[in-house]
Parts: sequence; C-alpha cells; structure tokens
Amino acid sequence: MSKRIIVAGSLNMDLVVHTPKVPALGETVLGTEFMTAPGGKGANQAVAAARLGGDVKMIGCVGDDIFGKDLIGNLLANNINVEDLNVIEGVSTGIAVITIKDGNNSIIVSPGANSKLSVEMLSDLEEVIKESSILVVQFEIPLGTVCKAIEIAKKHHVPVLVNPAPAVKLSDEFLSNIDIITPNESECEIITGLTVDSIEHAKAAIPYFIHKGVKQVVITLGSKGVVYNKGGEIIHKPVPEVKVIDTTAAGDSFTGALAYALCEGEDIDSAIDLANIVGTLTVMKKGAQTSLPYMSDIVDFRNK
Ligand code: RIB
Repeated sequence: MSKRIIVAGSLNMDLVVHTPKVPALGETVLGTEFMTAPGGKGANQAVAAARLGGDVKMIGCVGDDIFGKDLIGNLLANNINVEDLNVIEGVSTGIAVITIKDGNNSIIVSPGANSKLSVEMLSDLEEVIKESSILVVQFEIPLGTVCKAIEIAKKHHVPVLVNPAPAVKLSDEFLSNIDIITPNESECEIITGLTVDSIEHAKAAIPYFIHKGVKQVVITLGSKGVVYNKGGEIIHKPVPEVKVIDTTAAGDSFTGALAYALCEGEDIDSAIDLANIVGTLTVMKKGAQTSLPYMSDIVDFRNK
C-alpha cells in the first residue's frame, strides 16, 4: 500500500531578523542578525515528514524568481517529489518577514505565487491525491483550493490532516470533512470562539471539534505540551523542557511528523510522542527548514 504523503500548501522564503524589541507602528529599531531560510507552512511540513524518512510530494506554486528556484532546490535536496509544483511567470515567490524576540516570532506573509494555486490545478491532480495515503493542508493557499483538495481526498477515502494556520473561522461542513486537525491555542480560539490559554481550556475545546465531525483533534500548547482525544478519553502529554532559540516552524514540524507517523501505521500516542520530539528539536535551532530534525536526531534525543 502507498505510504505517500501529499502536502498541498505554501512555500515562502523567510526573511528573518532577530531583535531585542519588536517595533511599534512608526518606530525603527536596530535588530541583530539577519538570515534567509526556506519556509512556508506547507513546505515546512513536507520537509519535516521527508527528513523522518517519509515519501512526500509537494503541491504548490512559486514565482519565476531566485527565491522560487532556491525553494524548489531545497525540496529536491530533501528528497521531496516536486513534479506537481508550478512555477508562475511574472509573480513573486511567497515571502515571510519574520522578527524573532526572545525566541518568539511575529510573521507577515506576502503570499505571492501561493495565491495562484487554483481549484483547477488541484482538480487536475485527482489521480495523485487518490493514490496517496494522507493529504496535509494549511491555510496559506486559497481556501477554495484547500476545499477542492479535501473534496478529492474524501471522494477517494484518503485521510485529511488540516493544520488550520493562519486560522480562519471554519464552516460546519468544512470541519465535518477533517480527519485530523492540529490547531495551536490561538487558532483553536478563532475556530471555536472559546478561550484556550491553558491545558484545561484546551481539553474543554476538544468536544467542539468532535461534535462537528472531526475524528482526531490534537491541540498544541507550546511549552505546555499537547492535548488530544483517544477513544472517549482526552489526554495531555507534556513536552521536554529545553532552551528555546526560535519557535518558527515548531507547529509545522509537529504536523509533518504526525502525518509521517500516522502514515507509518503508528497509533496516536506514539505518533504524538514522535511529533513532540520533532517540535522540541525544532525550537532549539534558528530558522524554519534550517531547524527541522532528521530521524537520526530523534534517535540521539531518545538515547540521551
Ligand atoms: O509556520 C512558520 C512559517 O510561517 C514560516 O516558515 C513562514 O514562511 C510562514 O509561512
């Protein structure tokens, strides 16, 4: 049986500045170091799964510029199938302007070519989605395109994993088609309308999703760990305590690792154990894809 993971989503070049202070409106501040790093929630999730050993195909769009070339090259270097990536003429590749203060980020995304990933492009890829074992989507591409990808996956009984970032309010119909959802606290608040700033609140939010038809809910709470449902139970798992250098892509690496582990047939507990370690290792390094661990890093971490 195929174990192919399809990620339909965004690719961005991240322009990252570390700063002691996030500027207020109208203010200029002096930051410290600058780096460019391959990013985009979709591509980050694809690379996270591939570095663990997953067979990954990325569906998305870049522009016909140097960033687009670099991002495709980086996916190829991570053994990701890019046959269905589109290079859009005359359009900029997506970029993200990221400031990091004390390890925490603020991000502005200019979607560029990501906004050109169309319903028609997805319709043409029905056979590709049909032959996969999981579809992973996020919301840095047009929502109509996400819906089309999900519609095709559902038609062919391919499980759908949604990382609802950046968050938008979701219809009941949309939620009813999701198999697995991985919101963080703020995304959970936007979707449910509930306050979610503690483990207990996150536990209380899970029934909202279940009643709408989502089968597997996994709420990520940063350093407070993860809350998820299993059978009729709601479980909290802590994450290891580490020194946080940069949280960028932690949610993405968690989602990519979860997709990989579920594809490998692991149960939800061990899938979350793996995803927790992957997320933890991600925050210990700078950048998005520059910080994503390989399976050998997971083995080393577990043996420590
Ligand atoms: O989740 C982190 C990602 O969000 C960054 O890589 C940036 O590109 C934005 O998409």
